[in-house]
Formats: sequence, structure tokens, C-alpha cells
Amino acid sequence: MKQFLTVYGAEPDGVWAAPGRVNLIGEHTDYNDGFVLPFALPQRTVVAASRVDTPEWTVWSEQADERITFDLSEHVSGWGAYVAGVVWALREAGHQVPGARMAITSDVPLGAGLSSSAALESAVLTALVDLGGLDLPVDQRPRLAQRAENEYAGIPTGIMDQSASIRCRAGHALFLDCRSLEVEHIPFDVAAAGLAVLIVDTKAPHRHVTSEYAARRATCEEAARALDVQALRDATLSMVSGLADPVQRRRARHVVTEDQRVLDTVELLRQGRVREIGPLMTASHASMRDDFEITVPEVDTAVEGALSGGAYGARMTGGGFGGCVLALVDADATDKVAATVASAFADRGFTPPEPFVAVPGPGATRL
Ligand code: GLA
Repeated sequence: MKQFLTVYGAEPDGVWAAPGRVNLIGEHTDYNDGFVLPFALPQRTVVAASRVDTPEWTVWSEQADERITFDLSEHVSGWGAYVAGVVWALREAGHQVPGARMAITSDVPLGAGLSSSAALESAVLTALVDLGGLDLPVDQRPRLAQRAENEYAGIPTGIMDQSASIRCRAGHALFLDCRSLEVEHIPFDVAAAGLAVLIVDTKAPHRHVTSEYAARRATCEEAARALDVQALRDATLSMVSGLADPVQRRRARHVVTEDQRVLDTVELLRQGRVREIGPLMTASHASMRDDFEITVPEVDTAVEGALSGGAYGARMTGGGFGGCVLALVDADATDKVAATVASAFADRGFTPPEPFVAVPGPGATRL
């Protein structure tokens, strides 16, 4: 990577990359021990790194346009927390983490709900594991990256994003059981079905994402306690309908129905019935809008615009309160659907959205 040479005046020992993700379906199910079905984006974070002999890490980020240095005595904040958090989590797990110099570039859009932070954590983790020759099997890495995010950076997310960034395969969606962490790679070759996945970055400003996310998570945990189950994954719709608190009831209904939609989507994909997942996507959106209440006018408008432009299904992806919508469309209809969404945005006076077509890419790897 030429930036490493410019910043450090030497070639790196190696270059690693980890992608952002979109979630095809299964939102806010991960921290309820449920099911998710993300796939990796071609957009990724690239880390060029060299080992150094002191327990010190120097990290330059192109996106932040900043170079930071930290050692084991300090707590790093800002974007560097995702890097220092990985060093911390590896050490907590008993690994001898090598000191390193790193240069980081990324084309994962920031703050768009495409897991730029998980891409950063996963790329740094993969680089440090390789550089240090650490014995850390791939299936154990997402948990560690999640600890960096939860316990070091202080963001209470689930396991989906780091799992997607580390474990996805090109041409496949990752069917993840968030309780057992078992995965199955589900072929998701939309092109072969004459289809495409159109992602629309709504550019909606994220509003109170972290506090609203934490509130949703807390309500789900309260609902599980009220139902006397380990997690909402273990609840049924009839149990949920007996919940006394109407907010808990709506939130839990979203989680229980969403888990089922993931299973139904996986079943359809296994049978090659790609187009038929559209209605499940749209139902997932309605559930996020009405029961989980995590959508905003921009994402609702993008979904309605995509559907009226001919999409088979559309839904918001990610934590909510802004971010991206994904739509399943005919391969030759991407421009038309994008135009319908853009004109719906113009009618409402929203900032123009940014559409792009996504093909499932590979997970974290050494380049
Ligand atoms: C964010 C979190 C994930 C997951 C999604 C919602 O992306 O990082 O763990 O909870 O929101 O599905």
C-alpha cells in the first residue's frame, strides 16, 4: 500500500482487509440470541502493517487524516478506540499482541449503517493475529472484535457485524445462529436469478442511535425476563401476546417474527427461490417501522419509493434511525428504482440519496 510507504518510509510486512456488511434480513435479533443473514460488501477497510519490537502501536488513518500512537497505559478514544480496543481484547484473551505500525484506508461509508467500525476492528484483528502468529481460530475472532466494541469503545452492539466482516464468503450470505455462533454459507447469487441488490444510502442524519439502540436492547431483555426465557429467541408469538407492557409486546413481536422471517428467507434461498424473499424483506421493514420503531422518514420513503419503482422487496438494514435501505430488483431495473427513490426524496425535500449495487464479497483476509 503506497500510503504506508509515504507515512513510514518503508514497505509494510503485509496488507489485510475486512469488509463492511449489509444485513439481508434479521434486524435486532443478534443480541436476542436469534438469527441473522448478512453479506459482505465489496467496500472494505485495508490495513497495511509492520511489526515493531516495543509494545506500542502507531496508526495512521486516511479517513481521519490523523496519526496516533498509544501504549498499554492509556485509553484511546475516537476512531482509535476501535484499534486500541482490539489490542486490549486480544490481551484480555491472553494473547501476546505484537507492537505494530499501521496505515488504514477504507471505502466503507462512515455512519451509513454499513459497519465501518466492525470493518476496522476486523481488519486490525486479522492483521495483528497474522503479524503475531497468534493462535486464534477464525470462529473465535468475532467475539473478540465484539468485546473491543462493547467493552473498550463502549457501544453495546451484538455479534452480527463482526461475524459478517470476518466470516462472510463471496457470493454467499452468512446464516448465523447468534446463540451457538454456528454458521452456514447460503448461496446468494442474485445475478444468476436475473436480479440485483440495490443499496440506497439515505444520508439521513443518525438521530440518537446509540441511546435508542441501548433502549431497544434493554426492553428486549426486560421482555425476556418477564416471559421467563433466556432470550427472546426462546419466546413464541402466543407468549409475547401475553406480555402486559404494550411496548415490550411490540418490541418482542418484532424479534420473534423477524427470527422466523430469517428462517423463511434461508429456506427460500436454499431452494433457489430468490425473488420470493422480497415480501419477507418488506414485512421485515414494516415490523421495524411499526413494532420496533427504529425507522425514520427518509428510510420509510426509500422503501416506499423502491417498491413503487418495481422492487420485489425493500427494507432498512442495520441498527436504524438512518442509514441504508436495500431493495431486491430486476437486474435491468436498478437505475429505474434508484430514480424513483431519488424523486420521492426530492418531493419531500430530503438530501439526495446515494444508490449503489452490492454484490456479496469475501470476508476478512490477507491480501
Ligand atoms: C447494529 C449492531 C448489530 C445489530 C444491528 C441490528 O448494526 O452493531 O449488532 O444489532 O445493529 O440488527
